[in-house]
Amino acid sequence: MNSQPLLIRALNNQSIERPPVWLMRQAGRYMSEYRKLKEKYDFLTLCRTPELAHEVTMQPIDAFDMDAAIVFSDILVPATALGFDVDFNPGPVVANRVESAEQIADLRVPSYEELEQQFGFITQVLGSLRSELEPKEKALIGFTGAPWTMACYLLKQEPWKSFAGSSIFLEKYPDAMASFLEKLSDLLADYACLQIASGAQAVQIFDTWAGNLGVDNFNKFSLPVLNKLVAKVKERHQVPVILYLGNSSHLNGCLNSLNFDCFSLDHRSNLTSIDESLETKKCLQGNLEASILFAGSEITCRSTRAMLGKWKRESGLVANLGHGVLQKTPRDSVRAFVEEVKQGW
Ligand code: CP3
Repeated sequence: MNSQPLLIRALNNQSIERPPVWLMRQAGRYMSEYRKLKEKYDFLTLCRTPELAHEVTMQPIDAFDMDAAIVFSDILVPATALGFDVDFNPGPVVANRVESAEQIADLRVPSYEELEQQFGFITQVLGSLRSELEPKEKALIGFTGAPWTMACYLLKQEPWKSFAGSSIFLEKYPDAMASFLEKLSDLLADYACLQIASGAQAVQIFDTWAGNLGVDNFNKFSLPVLNKLVAKVKERHQVPVILYLGNSSHLNGCLNSLNFDCFSLDHRSNLTSIDESLETKKCLQGNLEASILFAGSEITCRSTRAMLGKWKRESGLVANLGHGVLQKTPRDSVRAFVEEVKQGW
C-alpha cells in the first residue's frame, strides 16, 4: 500500500521530510481563473455543480502545487438542511435568521440519510477530487463550520456589529443557545462524516469567531459541542480532525481540553509556547499573518523562513496562514509562500 500523503502523516504526528503546505481559502477571488468563472456562474452554482466545484478546487493546486486541496464550498451550505435560506452577496445573507428561543425549538436535525440525499453534489465532487489527487499524492480536506461560528451567521445580528447579537442571545436565552449549538453540532458531525465517506482524508472545523467568546462562555457553551462533534466523527471514521480557532489567543489555555488531532491558530498565537503547554503532543497548523502577503514575495519568503525557523519541531506541523487568503492577495506571494515551505526546515 502506498504511504499516506504528507499532510495526513503530519496530522497523525508521523515523521515528515518537511512541513506540508496549504492555505485556507486557497481557491477564490484572488485568482483570475476563479474570477473568470464567476463572470458566468454565481457562487452557489459553483458550489453546487460538481464539475465546477472540482475545477475551482483544483485551480490553486494546478497553479501553485500545494500539498492538499480543500473542497470548494462554504460553511453556510449545510445550514440549508435546517431550513435556513442562504445566499451570498458576496458574504452570507440568511433571510430567516433566528430571533427567538421558539424558532430553535422548532429546528429539526435531518438524518444522515436525508443529508446524503440533499448533498449529493458534495459527495460527487469529493469522489472525483479524490480520484484526481490520489495519483498526485496530494491530500483531500473536507470542512464544516464550528457550531458557534455557524450560530453567528444564523442568529439575528442587526443592529449590532461584530456578531454581538450572538453574545446577547446567549445571555438572554442560555438554554436555547445551548440547544441550538447541540443541534448544529449533530448536523455538522454528520456532514463531516458524509464528506469523509465520500473521499475526504481529513476534516477541518472552522471556528472563525471562537474569539468572540470569553474563556468562561467558551468552556461552558462551545467546548462541549466541539468535543461532541469530534467524538461523533471519530466514532465512525479514523481520520484526523483539525480545529481552526480565530482571534483566540485568550483561549489557548483551553486547548488541553479539546480532543482534536490538530489546532490551526491565527498569527496572534506563538506555536512554540503552545507546543510546550500541550499535555499530549498534537499537530499544529499555521500561522503566517495573511496580510503579510501584500508586502510582496520577498517579504513573504523572509517571514515564512522566520516562521519555519521559530517552530523548532520536526514533526506534527502544517504550514498555513493565520486565516483565509485575503481577496486581492498577490498571487506571486502565494507562490512564494508555498515554495519557501517546500525548501524544508
Ligand atoms: O471569513 C470567515 O472565516 C468566516 C466564516 C467562513 C465563511 N466561509 C463565511 C463567508 C468560513 C470559514 C468560510 C469557509 C469558506 N468559504 C471556504 C473554506 C474552505 C477553504 O478553502 O478554506 C471557502 C472555499 C469559501 C469560499 C467563499 N465563501 C468565497 C470564494 C466567497 C466569496 C463569494 C464570491 O462571490 O466569490 C465566500 C463568501 C463568504 N463566506 C464570505 C464569508 C464571511 C464573504 C467573504 C468576503 O466577502 O470576503
